Amino acid sequence: MNPLKTLLTLKNDIMDDIDNILQKDPAAKNRLEIVLAYPGLHARTLHRLSHTLWQKDYKVTARTLSHITRVATGIEIHPATKIGKRLFIDHGMGVVIGETAEIGDDVTLYHGVTLGGVSWEKGAKRHPTLGNNVVVGAGAKILGGFTVGDNAKIGSNAVVVKPVPNNATMVGAAARMIDKEKENHQKSNTNLNNQALFNAYGLKPDSNDPVASSISTLLIHIQKQDKQIENLANTLCHLDPNFCKEEIHPICKDDLEVLENE
Ligand SMILES: CC(C)(COP(=O)(O)OP(=O)(O)OC[C@H]1O[C@@H](n2cnc3c(N)ncnc32)[C@H](O)[C@@H]1OP(=O)(O)O)[C@@H](O)C(=O)NCCC(=O)NCCS
Repeated sequence: MNPLKTLLTLKNDIMDDIDNILQKDPAAKNRLEIVLAYPGLHARTLHRLSHTLWQKDYKVTARTLSHITRVATGIEIHPATKIGKRLFIDHGMGVVIGETAEIGDDVTLYHGVTLGGVSWEKGAKRHPTLGNNVVVGAGAKILGGFTVGDNAKIGSNAVVVKPVPNNATMVGAAARMIDKEKENHQKSNTNLNNQALFNAYGLKPDSNDPVASSISTLLIHIQKQDKQIENLANTLCHLDPNFCKEEIHPICKDDLEVLENE
């Protein structure tokens, strides 16, 4: 392609990016503001240069430029990443886009988004591919070399570890306990836990929080004492039926709801 045509295409693409931001961000007032104060635009524009350098095999120069971009904008895009038209990175700080990620047209990413990998295998597709029109909310992590379909929405702080179909909305984190030792330890404590009518602050007696642990231990102790008193009272009732006339209502879950809702 001749240099003049390349420059003209570049100018059109950047204008397209600016108009896209003006259209999508209600906070954007005019083009000049976008050119001066939108780190997402700066990062995307510099990525065009670093990507070209990467393709021409100036790998270290390309990586250095992407590093300088990161220092200036807080947005890290690997020079090898393939990006479509009108990418809008809003706010931008903390965005990380990995080497083998691919981004379609009209994608929006908010701050704190990671398009990351979970494998160290060189040459493998380690990072996700986003289709067209995908929106990724603030703080969301998409981890792995799978595809997020067209028009998908990823909620803020979601952790996505599996392919996402077209038009899907994904929320929530995929994290779950995988520490088997702790799981077994919890199983051995099941009997102890079953004695509790409720868990203060929603925490179990083996919680790491020392205050919650103490409260739970006290509650279990009180329940054991209640049981003992009930047995004594039953025995006394047999001896003197008048003893049972005044009934003490046991503490129930509802009385302590305020603690659970803390
Ligand atoms: C995921 C998202 C796209 C869903 O939008 P939506 O389709 O309009 O969904 P709604 O707001 O109607 O919420 C539907 C349900 O999902 C829940 N939900 C919405 N977003 C969620 C999120 N990020 N995490 C967990 N649950 C979420 C809502 O509480 C609601 O639950 P309910 O049905 O039990 O009440 C949107 O909430 C989101 O997270 N967008 C990203 C915004 C962002 O990052 N902004 C940063 C600007 S700086």
